[in-house]
Amino acid sequence: MLHSSVIPFIALFLVVILHLLEQANTEKCDYFTGNWIYETSSKSPFYDSKLCPFIGKEFSCEKNGRPDQRYHNYRWQPTSCNLSRFNGHDLLEKLRGKSVMFVGDSLSRNQWTSLVCLLYNSEPQQKYKFTRGSDDLTMLTFTEYDVKVMLNRNQYLVDLVNETNGRILKLDSIEISGKPWKGIDMLIFNTWHWWYRKGSGQPWDYIEVSNELYKDMDRMVAFEKALNTWAAWIDNNIHPSTSIVFFQGISPTHYNGTEWDEVGGTCMGETELIEGSTYPGGSPLALKVLKKVLSTVENMVTLLDITNLSQLRKDGHPSIYGINGKSVMDCTHWCLSGVPDAWNQILYNLLL
Ligand SMILES: *[C@@H]1O[C@H](CO)[C@@H](O)[C@H](O)[C@H]1NC(C)=O
Ligand SMILES: *[C@@H]1O[C@H](CO)[C@@H](O)[C@H](O)[C@H]1NC(C)=O
Ligand SMILES: *[C@@H]1O[C@H](CO)[C@@H](O)[C@H](O)[C@H]1NC(C)=O
Ligand SMILES: *[C@@H]1O[C@H](CO)[C@@H](O)[C@H](O)[C@H]1NC(C)=O
Repeated sequence: MLHSSVIPFIALFLVVILHLLEQANTEKCDYFTGNWIYETSSKSPFYDSKLCPFIGKEFSCEKNGRPDQRYHNYRWQPTSCNLSRFNGHDLLEKLRGKSVMFVGDSLSRNQWTSLVCLLYNSEPQQKYKFTRGSDDLTMLTFTEYDVKVMLNRNQYLVDLVNETNGRILKLDSIEISGKPWKGIDMLIFNTWHWWYRKGSGQPWDYIEVSNELYKDMDRMVAFEKALNTWAAWIDNNIHPSTSIVFFQGISPTHYNGTEWDEVGGTCMGETELIEGSTYPGGSPLALKVLKKVLSTVENMVTLLDITNLSQLRKDGHPSIYGINGKSVMDCTHWCLSGVPDAWNQILYNLLL
């Protein structure tokens, strides 16, 4: 027989063990490995893109005449656990009084737009204030919650400055870029798609490294150097107790059908995703470089490792139903509602 005085201690011990087991379980959960499930319930898609006032023409595939609909209705299912449904009211409550900022290129705008649509859709009657700043800063404030969701357009993260020599991309300087990031409660960074731009699409004349100017260099090396500069900025400027930092990861493109065994194809006319969990084309080298740099950051940065799950969605891009219609083939961005909603659902689950 146990002495009755030890029973409370045994109970407490069991509670602690259960709690630890539960923690181990959530830590083990890999949200980024899984497959897409077609869902036709009333809860899918996440929102009606035609009713979200913040979607620009570039992501409004349906309005731009895309005839098929299935791409709206897929839900991401991790293999080893379940995602909670996105709950906009709950997230606004959690973020009350706080600021969120997406920093990066148009893939950041893609995810920002998805998030503001998801939040708006949860309470379409709520008041908001939309500000488009002059300095590459767009802001949507959900006024009842005092939540600011911002977008800072910045293709390279490191400084790009005009000097007498021309436009200089400074791989080891980030002071100018970093100004708007200070004091933000939650930051979600991204840079990748601009690194291989050449010719008229390249917005710089020289690359500067250690005070030397170069006409050009290996772009993957340049990308890694810039990421290292960014990583040092995070360690020097972010206080982990007050700010939370994510990296959006490498969003894949679908211009080369050979990757999914369709010779000569692009994303044009793709209405079906890739079944299962594995993309035949393998993993991009940029992701390896990014992971290597992230492993050196001392402060906590969480990678939204969205590459694989997005690779499976060759059906998710605008193709000719994007900003410039038939004249441009867009297999880079994502139609909304669509793939970035799943990125944000995972982001929400990581914050729970
Ligand atoms: C996920 O949800 C399904 C059904 O909703 C359930 O059967 C399954 O046990 C859940 N899996 C986990 C790991 O919680
Ligand atoms: C830099 O110069 C380019 C033209 O060479 C111009 O388009 C751009 O606005 C300038 N940027 C700044 C910050 O002055
Ligand atoms: C398309 O992908 C295949 C296989 O990954 C590769 O061999 C080929 O060079 C690529 N084509 C282009 C135009 O990039
Ligand atoms: C993504 O796919 C690659 C192979 O293409 C694999 O090595 C990697 O573990 C996968 N990552 C995740 C998060 O599933």
